[in-house]
Amino acid sequence: MTTPRIPRHIAIIMDGNGRWAKQRMLPRYAGHHAGVETVRQVVSHCTQQGVEVLTLFAFSSENWRRPAQEVSWLMELFITALQREINKLHKNQVQLRIIGDRSAFPTKLQELIVQSEELTRNNTGLTLVIAANYGGRWDIVKTAKHLAWQIEQGQLNSEDITESLFASQMSLADLPEPDLFIRTGGEKRVSNFLLWQLAYTEMYFTDTLWPDFNKEQFMLAMESFASRQRRFGRTGDQVEEVEKRGSPEGPKEVCLRLEGGGKPLKNHIDLGLSNA
Ligand code: FPP
Repeated sequence: MTTPRIPRHIAIIMDGNGRWAKQRMLPRYAGHHAGVETVRQVVSHCTQQGVEVLTLFAFSSENWRRPAQEVSWLMELFITALQREINKLHKNQVQLRIIGDRSAFPTKLQELIVQSEELTRNNTGLTLVIAANYGGRWDIVKTAKHLAWQIEQGQLNSEDITESLFASQMSLADLPEPDLFIRTGGEKRVSNFLLWQLAYTEMYFTDTLWPDFNKEQFMLAMESFASRQRRFGRTGDQVEEVEKRGSPEGPKEVCLRLEGGGKPLKNHIDLGLSNA
């Protein structure tokens, strides 16, 4: 059998909650509520598959433009979801982190975030990153401001700014960059998500609405990733040569664990290593 790969880090834009609710003549809130259940399932799939980091876009800097009632529902949902789930996440060794400007959130939510991060800080399982009031441009500007401040303080020379120094001061600096980006709900945009960190990420778009993104859908995304050849700027021949030698450069990748004793999954796609 070939040795298919799994992504170390998956980043997801969870889109389609509102449409899912509308199709069922339900209020938009019901779609977000159903979306939380999908979050729970996807965390579990990632843990089972040995994914190391899962980053979810829960609330963008632009989402404040939504009707006040919906923003308020979402804040309530974040609070209740955190209160209900945090002990289970902790028991399962999940480390929770929140990225984004949390200062605009209700005080109660800010306090819960601090407590949840503190509780799970030393966990060694999946790192679950929730991007909340996050924007990719915000992240870049925040980093640029910090570097400018270091120069003003005489701690840094502008000539010493490199890509790796810049990256080391951004959100997620200590984590591997996303290998796989998934967006549900049919739109094919990055929507100001992890702009810097997605430079070499494989993109996967599906029309499936987030509340319907079940295990089968998740595995299709994983299989799509496993079937791609990641070149990181090299030629295909170079990558195949490195793979033959068994020491691929770039992000570490490990075998996809197939359930059912390695039997093909429904809608199975060839998982060959280098068939791009
Ligand atoms: C986008 O769908 C979804 C959001 C802006 C909110 C996502 C939040 C959740 C799934 C809850 C997650 C909770 C935790 C604790 C991580 P949309 O409303 O834009 O859908 P539409 O495009 O169909 O209108």
